Amino acid sequence: MTLLITGATGFIGRHVCARLTRSHDLYAVLRQPETQLPTLRQQVSDLGGQGDRLHAVKGDPDLPGLGLPEDLEAPEAIIHLGARFAWQLDPASAHRTNVAGSLAVAELARRHQSRLVFVSGFMLENHEHLRRLGINNDDPERVDWRRVYRLVGGYEASKLEAAIRVRALASSGDLDLVEVQPATVAGHSDTGSLDTSQPLFALLDNLARGRMAMIPGSPEHWLPLVAVDHLASLMAVAATSDGVPERLLALDPATPSLKGLLAIAADLLGRRAPQRHVPLPLLALLLRLPGLPRLMNTWPEALNFIQPTRFDTAITDAFLREQGLARPSIEAVIVATARWYRQRQ
Ligand SMILES: NC(=O)c1ccc[n+]([C@@H]2O[C@H](COP(=O)([O-])OP(=O)(O)OC[C@H]3O[C@@H](n4cnc5c(N)ncnc54)[C@H](OP(=O)(O)O)[C@@H]3O)[C@@H](O)[C@H]2O)c1
Repeated sequence: MTLLITGATGFIGRHVCARLTRSHDLYAVLRQPETQLPTLRQQVSDLGGQGDRLHAVKGDPDLPGLGLPEDLEAPEAIIHLGARFAWQLDPASAHRTNVAGSLAVAELARRHQSRLVFVSGFMLENHEHLRRLGINNDDPERVDWRRVYRLVGGYEASKLEAAIRVRALASSGDLDLVEVQPATVAGHSDTGSLDTSQPLFALLDNLARGRMAMIPGSPEHWLPLVAVDHLASLMAVAATSDGVPERLLALDPATPSLKGLLAIAADLLGRRAPQRHVPLPLLALLLRLPGLPRLMNTWPEALNFIQPTRFDTAITDAFLREQGLARPSIEAVIVATARWYRQRQ
């Protein structure tokens, strides 16, 4: 089976490569293969994969047609993870990489009749949030995208737009699409290791450095999590199995409230857990003060992912059972991640 992956060098991508190279050869679309491939092969082997089963194809989501060679062998599945993942992205570059890049990957999958395992995010299942943003159905032409970018920022808006546009392309044509919708990604369930650029790292860092005196939101608010290795296993079977549902919500419904999450982490970090809540609108207002987001290491856009909505994971639960994949205990994942954070200080 020929598999192609974008975003292989990223936090999730490396774990997906480690998982898939145990049984498959894998072609990674890399922007600078000469320098990136040797490092990635080593990282993949260190994560329990077989680095030598990983091969590189030069390409870039920012280039027309992804800048891929014309004679690319038709892959059976394409896993698309490559994206600009940061707060404060300017809308034009967020759109270029995350929306136009995703559509180019979807076109490639359609041309080669490959399955596309497309990574969106769990907020695509927060229907109340989508309604507030004016995203009422899957018709991208009926959405005021400028408003969406203004309201939620370049990263989230571009992820929402990419998902809605890729879905529209799939429904109008012949595209085998599986959309994986991850929650905020936590560390590895055994080692707890997490990239420093990940949002959960920023949360732990804020807690450890005493920048988290209050809990954003109410007692009902939570930041749904998924362990990176569990997500990687889910994506691997989404690419290689038959009978995969169209959407897989990669979110652990047993994630505690934000208060509970912070209490577990604070205990391991030797900090007092915050007890009082600060309403999100008030916090968002405070974060408008110039310099405060940087000082607090908290960007208003990140607050959208802390919300009270609960999600129905029944379809994913059934698929996990069918595949013999069990979710690791999310409380143990939080403990492992906080312990890993403490040990690296
Ligand atoms: N982590 C989460 O909590 C989370 C949750 C939901 C969804 N997701 C989605 O999952 C995917 C992977 O996330 P991740 O956490 O693994 O991200 P990451 O660590 O930031 O990795 C991003 C990947 O995208 C590649 N990339 C391609 N073009 C890029 C460009 N113009 N600018 C920056 N990077 C570019 C990077 O390659 P280079 O090495 O060449 O820079 C890297 O491989 C993204 O689509 C993200 O939206 C993540």
